Amino acid sequence: MIHSNRKPVFVADPLPLAGLWSEHMPIKLNVNSVAATVDVPPDTPLLWVLRDILNLKGAKYGCGIGLCGACTVLVGGHAVRSCMTTVGSVGSDPVTTIEGLSPDGLHPVQVAWETLDVPQCGYCQAGQIMTAAALLAHTPHPTDADIDAAMSGNLCRCGTYTRIRQAIHEAAEAGVPARTK
Ligand code: FES
Ligand code: FES
Repeated sequence: MIHSNRKPVFVADPLPLAGLWSEHMPIKLNVNSVAATVDVPPDTPLLWVLRDILNLKGAKYGCGIGLCGACTVLVGGHAVRSCMTTVGSVGSDPVTTIEGLSPDGLHPVQVAWETLDVPQCGYCQAGQIMTAAALLAHTPHPTDADIDAAMSGNLCRCGTYTRIRQAIHEAAEAGVPARTK
């Protein structure tokens, strides 16, 4: 008989333990001033979480590669492409979608959009409005060049660009809160 001081090593059968550990931790978010916890991998695009889990359908899927702006939302007050933003990168920064831009749909940008009848088919417009709101929150009185630079990544197949620029000037006249969350 061979004696040893080594403690026996128990190797558990992995199968009965499968599923006890998730590969990721639930992720806490603050979306439109409401706390949410989502159980998804951290590399999940924020757009998927907003639309498919939180049922916020305003941000749209266009290209999925950061080129069209249809998915634009605010994270920490900055316009971001939610198709290219991983949910795990958001951290504690507040997320604002078109549904949460104002409690009554009367954010100056929304009012100007309605006054000037900006949308045509409407598909790109939530992204346009969120980008415009972020622009005005940081640049209250933008020039045409400022607007063109800020809005150049938001494409509109219906060609509403002229009315978008007019509406941004009109919203600037009305005054936009300094920081949009
Ligand atoms: S869908 Fe995100 S930029 Fe086009
Ligand atoms: S309003 Fe139709 S794509 Fe912009």
